[in-house]
Amino acid sequence: FVGFRPDLEAGPIHYDEEQAGLSNRIVIKFSHVVAENTPKGLAAIYFAERVKEKTAGRVEIQVFPNGILYTEKNEFAALASGQVQMIAPALSNLSEQFPEFLATDLPFAFPNDEAVKAAFQGKIGQMLFQALERQNIKGMAFWPNGFKQMTSSKQELIKPDDFSGQVFRIMPSKVLAAQFQRLGAKVVPLPFNEVYPHLEEGKVDGEENTISNIYTKRLYQVQNYLTLSNHGYLGYAVLTNGRFWNQLPADEKQAIEEAMAETTQWLNNLTERMNEEQLAQIEASGQIKIHRLLPEERAAWIERLTPLYTEYAATIGPDLVQAVKELQQ
Ligand code: LMR
Repeated sequence: FVGFRPDLEAGPIHYDEEQAGLSNRIVIKFSHVVAENTPKGLAAIYFAERVKEKTAGRVEIQVFPNGILYTEKNEFAALASGQVQMIAPALSNLSEQFPEFLATDLPFAFPNDEAVKAAFQGKIGQMLFQALERQNIKGMAFWPNGFKQMTSSKQELIKPDDFSGQVFRIMPSKVLAAQFQRLGAKVVPLPFNEVYPHLEEGKVDGEENTISNIYTKRLYQVQNYLTLSNHGYLGYAVLTNGRFWNQLPADEKQAIEEAMAETTQWLNNLTERMNEEQLAQIEASGQIKIHRLLPEERAAWIERLTPLYTEYAATIGPDLVQAVKELQQ
């Protein structure tokens, strides 16, 4: 028996405190669907480093990017059942379980970055996190990505009627579907991983996304037109399972919360610059025609899409829709 364990032959067993500590370590699997070189991808890594530092390695965050572990279709179920302990879905992806999240998909909901901050640090953020409690999910933070832009392979998107007859990929969200339908387009909900192949094969004509997603997944290489419309916002809710969270020791909870706050602040300073730099790269590639939506063009989109606020008030909740409208005043 001892022959199998040469370490035991070496003499009395030495009690290794570090080793013992490691065996008690808490592992948090953090699954997400985007590339590492994106706001969310970088934030997940930064967060893992902060947690490791603050807990002296007692808590290990293992990050799984690019949907390698779970995609949007099953990451929420994986969190709820304890297969992973953290996810950071785009807000739209939570709207099937929690219709309140449709509020953030209302067209032109956020006029600028200040409105985004006011929303998620204020009443709107609170209402969204409260909704999650219905399924014992704890909202840890809102992470930014940026404003969404429109792309198409078929036709430049300048007037509302330019969308007519095209097929757009969307995240599964009733409001996003309604947005394109009001523009005369059809929609296909698809996980993020499937966007590039669908565009490449011409199964869908266009999509909406942030510059960092368009750049890192090379969507601009399979699209002909990009309209800088800022018509919607892409943000994330970082979530953990309430049952998992509640059994963590208090000092580990505190360390994780501090790391999360530092990560969010770090990310807030990074995303705008990142989207700008990656837009410059896309522009320099010369592979896609870029149009910057003019104020009068934007006004026509807003006019076409505003009825969604009334149409979806009951589904979303009138208070939440009212709070979004107040961002625009
Ligand atoms: C998308 O599916 O387009 C985005 O939600 C991906 C992401 O998480 O940024």
